Amino acid sequence: MVRLVIIGCGRIAQNHIAAAKQLSDVKIVGLFDHNGEKAAALAETLGCKGYGDMEELLNEQKPDAAVICVPTFAHEEYVKICASHHVAVLCEKPLERTTGACERLLSAVKEADIIFMTAQVVRFWPGYVEIKEMVDRGELGDIYMIRCRRVTSRDDAVAKWLNMPKLGGGAIHDMLVHDVDFLRYLCGPFKTGFANATKDETGCYNNVMANILCKNGVHAMAEASFTMQTGYPFSFSISLIGSKATLEYNYHAGIRIADTDEQESSFRIWREGTGLEELSFAEEDAFKRQLGYFVECVKKNEKPTLITPEQTYEVIKMIDALHESAHSGQNIELDTYQPFDFKKK
Ligand SMILES: NC(=O)c1ccc[n+]([C@@H]2O[C@H](COP(=O)([O-])OP(=O)(O)OC[C@H]3O[C@@H](n4cnc5c(N)ncnc54)[C@H](O)[C@@H]3O)[C@@H](O)[C@H]2O)c1
Repeated sequence: MVRLVIIGCGRIAQNHIAAAKQLSDVKIVGLFDHNGEKAAALAETLGCKGYGDMEELLNEQKPDAAVICVPTFAHEEYVKICASHHVAVLCEKPLERTTGACERLLSAVKEADIIFMTAQVVRFWPGYVEIKEMVDRGELGDIYMIRCRRVTSRDDAVAKWLNMPKLGGGAIHDMLVHDVDFLRYLCGPFKTGFANATKDETGCYNNVMANILCKNGVHAMAEASFTMQTGYPFSFSISLIGSKATLEYNYHAGIRIADTDEQESSFRIWREGTGLEELSFAEEDAFKRQLGYFVECVKKNEKPTLITPEQTYEVIKMIDALHESAHSGQNIELDTYQPFDFKKK
């Protein structure tokens, strides 16, 4: 049995708690929030103890693993505390707000030699898993072009920190990261990044169109927005044009991504010579798959290979580069780019 603690008791913590409940080899033994009362109230519903003090939680519960669900700008602080107690970490995306903070976080992870994984849940999402397998099997042939889209309404992106430029950074950091990460998974290292983006009244780039060139020659476009009008469902899509087939996957949830009862999806592939084929598969809980994979790694004491720290670092550097590109209008070469770290003290 893996003894798990949840750090941060807001919205995404609910998905990880629901995932843990579905796994027979995981037990949530404690919760932390800087608002200790919030942690205590949620812990009561789970039959464990809530804490407002991290050291107390880690010393009393001696967990095997932690899921970091605090806001993005606080990931570095809490991952470092877990590393200092030699606790394995599954950390929510984006790994941190700046590339520099990621560097510090990952060097603490390396020094403590703990099991660590960034929670890039799209890599576990059934439709995306199918796409990765098809591409790896060569079913699409050579990929010419990929287009990704991920948008949601103002009613969904409600947390205050999320829409503050230095804390959450808005859609360019919080939403785009899912697709940039999936592109890294699918195509390998990045070469250049360029973004057209507009800021809204929050000061964040909340409408962004990014162009990414991967070192394997694939061109990709990724679009993200936090500013759709009231009622617009949380939506994502991806299309791939290859020498042997064209594929389109479209998904709409309810107003929020968690409103899966209202989900609609389609997965279509046009193969050379045979035409349209519609595939269907169960939209199984990707958070359960993700936690299940991480817990297996903890049980076997093996470092995760499905998502590595090096890949996550490159993804955050690309997001920083796209932010810089939106500001400067330059196409940025990732290898030589040196991001500015406003978090460095
Ligand atoms: N995988 C996904 O699809 C997905 C979806 C939503 C959020 N997220 C990520 O999860 C993280 C949390 O997002 P959320 O939507 O749950 O946020 P939230 O604001 O709903 O919850 C954050 C929780 O952390 C607590 N908190 C705030 N500041 C803190 C601090 N400095 N120290 C300790 N606790 C603090 C708050 O009291 C709150 O309970 C973010 O990194 C976000 O990007 C991922």
